[in-house]
Amino acid sequence: MEVIIAKPDELARLAACAYEQLLRRRPDAVLGLATGSSPLAVYDELVRRHTDEGLSFAQARAFNLDEYVGLPAEHPQRYLNVIRHDFTDRVDFAPGAVQGPDGLADDLAAACTSYEDAIAAAGGVDLQIMGIGTDGHIAFNEPGSSLASSTRIKTLTEQTRADNARFFGGDVDKVPQHCLTQGLATVMRARHIVLVATGRSKADAIHQLVEGPVSAMWPGTILQHHPHVSVLVDTAAASRLQ
Ligand code: F6R
Repeated sequence: MEVIIAKPDELARLAACAYEQLLRRRPDAVLGLATGSSPLAVYDELVRRHTDEGLSFAQARAFNLDEYVGLPAEHPQRYLNVIRHDFTDRVDFAPGAVQGPDGLADDLAAACTSYEDAIAAAGGVDLQIMGIGTDGHIAFNEPGSSLASSTRIKTLTEQTRADNARFFGGDVDKVPQHCLTQGLATVMRARHIVLVATGRSKADAIHQLVEGPVSAMWPGTILQHHPHVSVLVDTAAASRLQ
């Protein structure tokens, strides 16, 4: 695990460089995408490189980490819509190249299995970008998640629902209670993981991620066992590191 402490715009450049190097080498790479605030500056930088420098995603495929259960197809906070708005519709992904778990499926368990199958059929994720929750979740693997978990249904903690209420007009009651999320074992199969965290609210989670014992109570700590993780943090998120 490498830990890089820098200003947020530099972190975004570093993460974007990892994507660019991969795509210049392998234009048909499989990209792992995350929603939330943490990757937004990275996506903006990738859009800039697409617009100004011709970086292309036309042959790439992408898989989202997670999805709320039950949000209507057109809901702006449905993660497939969020990632289109924040990133993928602003570059040149081919139609259908971006997928997420189907939070509207009649059979949610079957949707989870077929999502795992789709990632495997694509050859696995080459480069996964992700954030981390204040409670240490990665994807939506909340504290207590099995370290060996696959894509499945999870209940969001009150902490995560409160954190995400800002995307629902500040109304925590509008934040869904359930999600489908890649499991920790799924995430661990990505070949390179870039985790971005900024701000004091992430300091405990980053401390545990980097320096804590590996524990299901801080799910991000499983990344200590991954051979290629880059943790990109600003000084506030790094403020509890020894
Ligand atoms: C989102 C996701 C979550 C977020 C985490 C941090 O797809 O998987 O794990 O990365 O909740 O969210 P932000 O970046 O909004 O602080």
